[in-house]
Amino acid sequence: MYRIIERRMIVPNLHEFTVEAPEVVQAVQPGNFVIVRADELGERTPLSVADWDREANTVTSIFMQGGASTAKLARLKPGDSIPTYAGPLGNETEIANFGTVLCVAGCYGIGSIYPIARALKDAGNKVYTLLEARSSYLLYWEDRFEEVSERVIKVTRDGTAGYKGHISRLGEILTLEKIRPDRIIVNGCTFLMRKTSEVTQPLAIKTIVNMNPIMIDGTGMCGVCRLTVAGKMKFACVDGPDFDGHEVDWEEFLKRRQTYNPEEVHPLRKSGCAAHF
Ligand code: FES
Repeated sequence: MYRIIERRMIVPNLHEFTVEAPEVVQAVQPGNFVIVRADELGERTPLSVADWDREANTVTSIFMQGGASTAKLARLKPGDSIPTYAGPLGNETEIANFGTVLCVAGCYGIGSIYPIARALKDAGNKVYTLLEARSSYLLYWEDRFEEVSERVIKVTRDGTAGYKGHISRLGEILTLEKIRPDRIIVNGCTFLMRKTSEVTQPLAIKTIVNMNPIMIDGTGMCGVCRLTVAGKMKFACVDGPDFDGHEVDWEEFLKRRQTYNPEEVHPLRKSGCAAHF
């Protein structure tokens, strides 16, 4: 069993989740994920790692409460235990001195991109961070990003922080901020990753996205996480989760995600916990 050290709502619907996991923490790297189950009957849920403490043996993730499995996770309290915390899984994000790197993140991706930004800074890059949200009250960890970034840029749909609008303004924002990235890394929802990739393709800026489809075993055995990249079938769990955003078949990916949504949401409705749907 794995002991919960912290589980708190950090902004509406997003939870910070810290677990004591001595085997995982020794090997974890930026870009890895873990698979968790809240109880013996729970579904296996992939969570990207957002931070870790090798001395305290703890690993932290940020997850969004969006279905039955994450609703169970959201009810856990410090001191509770969970039966499954498997990892680290997936390939680590490529870290090298690329020059100037822009880290783009929203939602739970703000958490998972943090160790990537920190490692890129340590590798000698000039790191800029762009955080995107519906409104300023959905942003978090800005202080952490200030420490590892030349500048933290914010984009909010209601204009309550930074630029008003969403990520489709990225080209214009790069011009206004006078940033010419050698590489962009995006963590967050499918919309954010896809839109960023669409903006950067004509600008010929290498764009790495962190794909997090439904997963079951996380080891390449079940096939649930498959997607098409550069015309070839890939498994996000073992070939990714990072891929070139200009090579992902986004239409197919979205269709596959939608196929699973009803099964994920239905048990929650039955359990009477569907207040936010
Ligand atoms: Fe089963 Fe990737 S999660 S093959």
